[in-house]
Amino acid sequence: MKVLVTGGAGFVGSFLCEELHNSGHDIRIFDNFEPQVHSGAQGNLRNLLPNGIPLNGVELVFGDVRSPIQLGAALRDVDAVIHLAAQVGVGQSMYEVHRYVDHNTIGTAVLLELLASRKHNVRKLVVASSMSIYGEGGAHCASCGSVTPALRGATQMSVGDWEVRCPICGRTTTPVPTAESKPVLPTSIYAITKRDQEEMCLVVGRAYGIPSVALRFFNIYGPRQSLGNPYTGVAAIFSSRILNDRPPVVFEDGNQTRDFVHVKDVVQAISLALVKDEANGHVFNVGTGRPTSIKDVAILLSRKLRRNIAPQIEYKFREGDVRHCYADISKIKEHLGYAPTVELETGIDDLIDWAESQKADDRFEAAAAELAKRGLAR
Ligand code: UD1
Repeated sequence: MKVLVTGGAGFVGSFLCEELHNSGHDIRIFDNFEPQVHSGAQGNLRNLLPNGIPLNGVELVFGDVRSPIQLGAALRDVDAVIHLAAQVGVGQSMYEVHRYVDHNTIGTAVLLELLASRKHNVRKLVVASSMSIYGEGGAHCASCGSVTPALRGATQMSVGDWEVRCPICGRTTTPVPTAESKPVLPTSIYAITKRDQEEMCLVVGRAYGIPSVALRFFNIYGPRQSLGNPYTGVAAIFSSRILNDRPPVVFEDGNQTRDFVHVKDVVQAISLALVKDEANGHVFNVGTGRPTSIKDVAILLSRKLRRNIAPQIEYKFREGDVRHCYADISKIKEHLGYAPTVELETGIDDLIDWAESQKADDRFEAAAAELAKRGLAR
């Protein structure tokens, strides 16, 4: 197949493109080289463009998904589209609302309108969605059973009452794996745009007979994760802090949990979704099925980086953050044969090796001050 990968020069996209190339596909990498993500000498594409010259079967196109002209040209002759291009900072999305909606929702609208109105050969569309669309993850109440709590309120959290309460009886709930069937409840602009992207692709795909798949990525980590971007995922932010001999700053009490999935397993999931007809028309979680607390991630990184730096627990909270969310991966296992291969304890070494080879530019404090100034972290 000839595959167009939007955002193909990014953290996930670049590994995916290597895998697609190694599997014999032709690839067209489409990327705007967003400075917030691509600052510094990352060279994500160095294996595909040694000395700047693309390998056979590899094309690189500089472009913006919001441009019908650029994206329309990039769609020529492709058999499949993997749509990864997006702005990805949850906190930042709460004040750069227009930019997030523009790149994510409108960029996807541009792609879909091109597919709806022009002749093309696309017979598979895979879109990157996110676990953030769930809002709070699956929850179980000892008296009321399975419940769908809304986002925790500021009054509750301002007194350090961090856990998720049952919306019916108010008891503290226990986190359970989050399945695709859980009603979605996006709690940030970023999450709203991810839900938009997912629903728009599936609706247009069905209407025009383009087999489409949405993958809900959980918290991805690994090499090439942008270290200079203070709005990137927590593992990269913590690595950058520790490498600069500063403590990782932990929001809440650090016992909030996420499902950390290695980029290699994310590439596995995308590759399966691309080739398997069983994926068509479905949404799938892509995670490991295992929760890890944010405090434990900070401690693990500090140990692995051989620095004796304790996390700085802030007992503050970020607007829109959920308490617990980890994946139920039974659907993707059954339908596509996905199986996560990397455990956080060992997989984190890949992020660390990468981080140590870079100049980790720690911009956390400026980003945290921006959130605090706007009342989005308190
Ligand atoms: C992350 C991604 C999002 C992706 C989603 C699912 C980012 C910014 N967010 O969202 O794009 O769709 O996973 O894959 O990449 N935290 C700290 N200290 C920090 C930073 C974060 O304690 O310096 C805490 C947060 O308060 C939160 C947890 O770590 O409780 C995870 O935060 P983050 O890495 O931003 O991820 P998500 O919001 O889960």
